Amino acid sequence: MDSFDPPRLRGVKKRDLSAIAELEAAAFGSNSLTRSALDVIFDPSGGLWLLAEDDEGAWGHSVNARGEDPAIGWIVGMAIHPERQRRGWGQLLLRATIQRLQDHDMEVVRLLVKPANKIARHLYETAGFLDTGERMDHFGPGEDRMVMSLLLSSQSGRSGGGHVNGAMVPQVPAS
Ligand SMILES: CC(C)(COP(=O)(O)OP(=O)(O)OC[C@H]1O[C@@H](n2cnc3c(N)ncnc32)[C@H](O)[C@@H]1OP(=O)(O)O)[C@@H](O)C(=O)NCCC(=O)NCCS
Repeated sequence: MDSFDPPRLRGVKKRDLSAIAELEAAAFGSNSLTRSALDVIFDPSGGLWLLAEDDEGAWGHSVNARGEDPAIGWIVGMAIHPERQRRGWGQLLLRATIQRLQDHDMEVVRLLVKPANKIARHLYETAGFLDTGERMDHFGPGEDRMVMSLLLSSQSGRSGGGHVNGAMVPQVPAS
């Protein structure tokens, strides 16, 4: 991979939602989260939603939530704009997301991914996520999702930057 500047990572603010809707549409096309869906998600996300940006704007985000079981954090969605893909941003954002969930006392991180999305699966596997074998079909026929899960190491600890499961994590301002 070529060497590119890393993104700055921070919590999402309401004023970021239009830029996020645009990057979602660029990354996912018609399956993207719309601006009105993002408005609904904003408050319940309670500070777990991260933005990746540079001087030219917002180019990536991960929406995260605490599960019904408070020890479980969910990565509800994650995307990097095609213009910033393949620069290591996805990996940095994922690590920072895991750290953010751990800082909020979550012990397990789970997510849903399309079995055919090999790029995303590779990203998650590299971070240590395992296929749980569970499948969810609540997106409708032919739209099943695999459930991947990461057990957080109790030794990783809280940090403002540091290591998650052995990998460097960039510092994200607390919010
Ligand atoms: C999945 C996604 C977030 C990855 O973001 P990214 O910033 O491009 O990822 P990175 O640059 O950190 O690369 C991570 C790994 O994926 C690989 N990768 C990324 N894009 C790739 C591509 N188009 N083809 C092959 N491999 C690719 C990288 O080589 C790297 O592999 P490595 O760790 O073995 O070196 C991004 O592709 C995306 O937003 N996709 C559309 C939305 C999506 O699918 N979201 C996930 C839904 S669950």
